[in-house]
Amino acid sequence: MKILVTGGAGYIGSHVVLELLDQGYEVVVLDDLSMGAKENVDDRAAFILGSILSRADNEIALKGVDAVIHMAAFKAAGESVENPEKYTRNNVDGTLTLLNTMVDLGIHKFVFSSSAAVYGEPQYLPIDEKHPVNPINPYGETKLKIEYQLEKEFISKGICFATLRYFNAAGYDINGRVRIPENEPNNLLPVVMEAANGSRNMIEIFGDDYETRDGTGVRDYIHVTDLAKAHILAVHYLRSHPSFTVNLGSDVGYSVTEILDTARKITEKPIPANISARRAGDPPKLVASSEKAKSLLGWKAEHSDLETLISTMWDIYRPAEALV
Ligand SMILES: NC(=O)c1ccc[n+]([C@@H]2O[C@H](COP(=O)([O-])OP(=O)(O)OC[C@H]3O[C@@H](n4cnc5c(N)ncnc54)[C@H](O)[C@@H]3O)[C@@H](O)[C@H]2O)c1
Repeated sequence: MKILVTGGAGYIGSHVVLELLDQGYEVVVLDDLSMGAKENVDDRAAFILGSILSRADNEIALKGVDAVIHMAAFKAAGESVENPEKYTRNNVDGTLTLLNTMVDLGIHKFVFSSSAAVYGEPQYLPIDEKHPVNPINPYGETKLKIEYQLEKEFISKGICFATLRYFNAAGYDINGRVRIPENEPNNLLPVVMEAANGSRNMIEIFGDDYETRDGTGVRDYIHVTDLAKAHILAVHYLRSHPSFTVNLGSDVGYSVTEILDTARKITEKPIPANISARRAGDPPKLVASSEKAKSLLGWKAEHSDLETLISTMWDIYRPAEALV
């Protein structure tokens, strides 16, 4: 089977590409390198420099393809509040261009990188797929719009889709094959790594008075290799089953303090941290239920314990002198 991975030079995409290649799939990557790094795309994959916004680029990339894993998007929730048009154009218009080109070329299998951001403020925990959707930023809205369009428009056009709602992706390839760190990271773990390797002075802890184990916010972190494996299972499932939507999380929550303590132990660096006020819209706790992915796909998170998440990241982020 030949698979197109859009955004395959990105953080998660480059891991999905590796997993596909390791399992014997033929892979083509379409990426405009607005965020990703060409060096992270394994040589065994064909690489096309281009944008999902261009019908012509999509047509070239889709040649001979059996299924599409669509990861190309902008993902910075904060930036999406300042510049919502940028997010609508890339994430919504780009995806619709890609989907319409697929329909015209008779390619029907589509795996979509959605996000836990579609849920907004949690009304109960753990969050399962029946939880109401109510995104609190334009980034989450772009993901929800595509989910709606898939249901409303593209099922009737023959598209068979897997919507994968990821929680917080973290970690790096356990064999160390993805070498370039994320561009302008926003998630906590890469920021902690940058504070450990000295490329940032300290980390801010936004609130230590939540009703959680130690007062700091609790989130669900899922290792990218676990995420990548779920994509291959989703492609496989779509060959003989209808469209579906699942959460992908570890179903375990780690607090900011737990992450810092483990990171300090693994990196042997002080990692200075400053407590500041809570941020608006940050819930105390966000944890997934991935029971549906487990029962539908036979998937489970295997590398998402805190030690593996942090040690595989430190392999990438540690300063060169720490390697000798
Ligand atoms: N990282 C997370 O924790 C997380 C959580 C939930 C959902 N997601 C989603 O997963 C997907 C991948 O995220 P990531 O963390 O790897 O982000 P990333 O920024 O590292 O990767 C996205 C890739 O898409 C490319 N891209 C962006 N716009 C493009 C366009 N118009 N045409 C072609 N390529 C384009 C970028 O150059 C980049 O390589 C995104 O859709 C994101 O919204 C990520």
